[in-house]
Amino acid sequence: MNVVLMGPPGAGKGTQARELAVKYGIPQLSTGDMLRAAVKAGSPVGLKAKAAMESGGLVSDEIVVGIIADRITEADCAKGFILDGFPRTVAQAESLAEMLKSRSLKIDHVIDITADTEALVARITGRSTCAKCGEGYHDTHKKPKKAGACDKCGGELTRRADDNEETVRNRLSVYHKQTAPVIEFYRGGGTFKAVDGMEKMDKVFAALCRILG
Ligand code: AP5
Repeated sequence: MNVVLMGPPGAGKGTQARELAVKYGIPQLSTGDMLRAAVKAGSPVGLKAKAAMESGGLVSDEIVVGIIADRITEADCAKGFILDGFPRTVAQAESLAEMLKSRSLKIDHVIDITADTEALVARITGRSTCAKCGEGYHDTHKKPKKAGACDKCGGELTRRADDNEETVRNRLSVYHKQTAPVIEFYRGGGTFKAVDGMEKMDKVFAALCRILG
């Protein structure tokens, strides 16, 4: 099963994709996580991506399409994958359609997680993530039992460099200009559904599972 999870920054794509990956036994492919790993490693891709990510802009289509084209050929994607944060432009959506077609694959579900802009700003600026296992937390909605430490593995909780209010507002503006048209690209194709991301996390998860079966 091949799934595209869409939604503005902070809608809950990463939170839900991690849970869905466990339930359905298919990997979460987050271009944001892959790019952050490349920046941290100082790889050529990371060096090219760094400035765009820090300002809240998009990394070039060429780079992210290349990353996903390589990643979906790996063995753990044989039964499917959950794309989290890709495609983010109509050009990326067109490239994805071509790369899947050439491998006789298709997208089974495109799900847009919707949420209100001001709630998104509050969610992102309150977010922290475990540096070791990637589990996500929030200052008010999902506090760790011990401040600064992951409930699951005890790893250190960190905050992303692009999670300050100014950059978040730019990410939201970029989303409306460049990513919202991707929803129109998929709408009407028979695979598109939306879920209300303003519901509690477990309710959003249940709604996603009802769609995925
Ligand atoms: P990326 O890492 O994809 O960031 P994003 O899209 O901005 O999304 P986020 O990770 O901020 O939000 P999310 O929807 O995953 O929310 P989360 O579950 O964490 O991309 C980062 C950057 O990389 C981009 O700006 C760009 O530069 C580059 N990039 C990535 N992909 C690219 C591409 N394809 N093309 C070009 N450039 C690309 O939840 C947020 C918080 O809210 C958490 O604290 C969580 O606990 C909480 N929360 C979640 N759900 C709920 C709920 N239902 N109720 C209450 N709180 C909730």
